[in-house]
Amino acid sequence: MRNPLVIPLRGSGSMSSFRGKNVIITGASSGIGEACVRWFAQRGANVVLAARSIDKLEQICVELEASGAQSLAVQTDVTVADDVQQLFTASEEKFGPADIMINSAGSGLRASLLDISDEDWHSVMAANLTSVFYCSRAAAKQMIRANRGGHIITIGSVAGLLAAPNYAAYCAAKHGVTGFQRAIKWELRGQGIKVSTLYPARINSAFFKDYPQQPKRWQLLEPSDIAAYVGVIASGSVLRRAGVRLWLVVKRLYRIVRYLPFG
Ligand SMILES: NC(=O)c1ccc[n+]([C@@H]2O[C@H](COP(=O)([O-])OP(=O)(O)OC[C@H]3O[C@@H](n4cnc5c(N)ncnc54)[C@H](OP(=O)(O)O)[C@@H]3O)[C@@H](O)[C@H]2O)c1
Repeated sequence: MRNPLVIPLRGSGSMSSFRGKNVIITGASSGIGEACVRWFAQRGANVVLAARSIDKLEQICVELEASGAQSLAVQTDVTVADDVQQLFTASEEKFGPADIMINSAGSGLRASLLDISDEDWHSVMAANLTSVFYCSRAAAKQMIRANRGGHIITIGSVAGLLAAPNYAAYCAAKHGVTGFQRAIKWELRGQGIKVSTLYPARINSAFFKDYPQQPKRWQLLEPSDIAAYVGVIASGSVLRRAGVRLWLVVKRLYRIVRYLPFG
């Protein structure tokens, strides 16, 4: 049976509200990033998809273009500064300067302090924090040069506000993202560039695929829920934002009541 709580989120935002806007999205091959790609493409934006899995990106682009959307896939390792530069160059050549940049690429690590290797530590920092620095800096440069404002939206995490045992590296990286975003929000304000951060928890994506314990159904929201919230943030409507926020709370409660007895 179709979940009745999905419909209002899909309906939020008019279909043409992002027509002609250039939206660059990292982590676009999966989960929240892919859901954002679909959300903005459905509303007329030109979407630029970045991730390492180029096959997946190209497959998504084929689907989008069949429905009339404009898209570009750029194979990008967001931990490599040259790759990020190439992403922004390719995007500008095809569509012009970015209007919206969404940082969704990231990866988790569940390990106790004594089990975190040097390599794991650097890899988690690079994927979650350095990537946000590289992409936000490149986006800000392009937006300032174009002088028409812009919006940088980052998928942080509840782990960027709270802490949990066995997630020290991930929490450190996401806390870093929180601080970074707060600092650049003040810096870019005068240039007409908005900076927003989301702090989601437990989304039904490939994120947990290597974890020994999978989250329970009642704990999860869908990537499309987060994409809808990103969309209302980008639309700038305070009323809609409050509405979707309230809706997500209702949806969480609904899932708890519906699935908790069954795990
Ligand atoms: N799922 C959750 O419960 C949850 C909760 C809070 C916050 N978050 C955050 O939400 C964001 C998206 O996660 P998700 O749930 O959508 O997970 P996901 O389905 O595993 O997607 C992760 C995405 O990041 C990309 N990525 C990872 N490392 C990369 C790299 N070095 N270069 C380029 N792309 C890279 C992956 O693409 P390739 O592998 O193709 O490169 C993939 O597209 C992450 O920042 C995560 O920390 C997730």
